[in-house]
Amino acid sequence: MEVYSEKQQITAAIDALKAEKLTVGLVPTMGALHEGHLELVIKALEENDHVVVSIFVNPTQFDNPDDLDKYPRTLENDVKLLNTVSDNKILVYAPTVDDVYDGNTVSEHYDFDGLEFEMEGKFRQGHFDGVGTVVKRLFDIVKPHKAYFGEKDYQQLQIIRKLVEKHQMPLTIVGCEIHREANGLAMSSRNTRLKPEYAEAAPFIYETLKTAKIKFGTKSATEVQEWVEKQFAKHDLLELEYFIISEVETLKPLKRKSNNKSYRGFIAVYADDIRLIDNIALN
Ligand code: PAJ
Repeated sequence: MEVYSEKQQITAAIDALKAEKLTVGLVPTMGALHEGHLELVIKALEENDHVVVSIFVNPTQFDNPDDLDKYPRTLENDVKLLNTVSDNKILVYAPTVDDVYDGNTVSEHYDFDGLEFEMEGKFRQGHFDGVGTVVKRLFDIVKPHKAYFGEKDYQQLQIIRKLVEKHQMPLTIVGCEIHREANGLAMSSRNTRLKPEYAEAAPFIYETLKTAKIKFGTKSATEVQEWVEKQFAKHDLLELEYFIISEVETLKPLKRKSNNKSYRGFIAVYADDIRLIDNIALN
């Protein structure tokens, strides 16, 4: 498997594939790969002749320098894992910050029609400008036919769809279901940093989401929200940052249920100093 660290090299390799009329999928990641990432890669391999996996810890999407420093960087292991999925159909793009940002490591500012002001946007200043900037650059470098994003970061997925629509970029965005540990915890590169007692407690997040879904069948959004808040208030180790029920297209908090709209419950929880997010389709 080729690992490219410079955009000139990878674009040359991609151009050669496209000259042969082969299709190219893109799976953007920040590395520290786990089975959740691999599911995206497997789906991309099913739908494209070749798949570019980018591995880049993007500095402009971190509002907390400490979080950026602590982000795990495990390129050698990531490449090994990708090799278990395919040894000749994957191209890895693992650039330096300068290769992506050309010496100017700042975000563009984007208008995502308000999607950027909900949930994660409230708690992580500038985060989605950073995500939009790096993903647009990756799309411009790779020019994929399709790009794959996880529903684990549902707001990010909707924002990328908006980015593509607003810039009329010629590619298809594919959303992929949340991949979970056997105990229900959504897979995340952060899970490995959980101390044992927090790792044991964390499946409570998805347990609560599943019960919230059942309650949503008969109760209002406010009642379900209050119920979730109460469950976490009683919990010794996990601290709720937010639980919000929102409409899936606009991500606006649900006020009155409508039969022809889809809703999801979105949650962010602190387990010690580690922030975990998850979500669930409610109808
Ligand atoms: P990262 O957190 O590495 O995630 C890369 C992709 O994997 C994202 O689309 C994310 O939603 C998906 N993913 C992670 N865990 C998942 C799980 N348990 N189930 C399904 N999909 C999962 O998200 C980012 O990186 C960055 O913001 C990025 C888009 C690469 C831009 O820097």
